[in-house]
Amino acid sequence: MKSLVSYYSRTSTTKKLAESIAENIGADVEEIIPKVNYQGKIGYARAGKQALQEKIVEIEEPKHDPQEYDVVYLGTPVWASKSATPLISYIKQNEGKFKNVKFFATSAGGGGFDSTFLQLEKFTNVKPQATLGLTSKDVKKDLYLDQLADFIRG
Ligand SMILES: Cc1cc2nc3c(=O)[nH]c(=O)nc-3n(C[C@H](O)[C@H](O)[C@H](O)COP(=O)(O)O)c2cc1C
Repeated sequence: MKSLVSYYSRTSTTKKLAESIAENIGADVEEIIPKVNYQGKIGYARAGKQALQEKIVEIEEPKHDPQEYDVVYLGTPVWASKSATPLISYIKQNEGKFKNVKFFATSAGGGGFDSTFLQLEKFTNVKPQATLGLTSKDVKKDLYLDQLADFIRG
């Protein structure tokens, strides 16, 4: 089964999880790079505002075509209880190309996953086969391996 892990990460927490998933299943990896600056305090404020607006932003040209994959894993940090804008922009840009999906997200407080996953379901128009929401702390401390195994199997 051909799998792709597509993710956006601002401060590398979701990136760590994405790479861990890809390594476990031998998937190709697509890091979504926005053409918008989300760094620093101003970038943080911009990120929160745009997430609430579900703003579609410009992203660098992706390297892989999601249509060529049996399963696409989509990952994002939670921003204001929603998906980060680069991920929904990527989904929008690839509308109709997702057959089977799994969603994963990281958040500081461990909240906002349900609303984020519902939003991703709305944008992909596909019900996920599995979802995985983890706190940044658990990702950093590698306290997610059992949940990761369930997610991959699910
Ligand atoms: C603009 C913005 C909004 C955020 N909103 C939330 C939130 O609503 N709930 C939460 O628990 N964490 C929130 N966070 C924290 C991130 O979800 C968390 O640090 C995440 O693990 C970062 O992932 P990354 O390193 O892949 O960017 C927010 C972070 C940013 C930048």
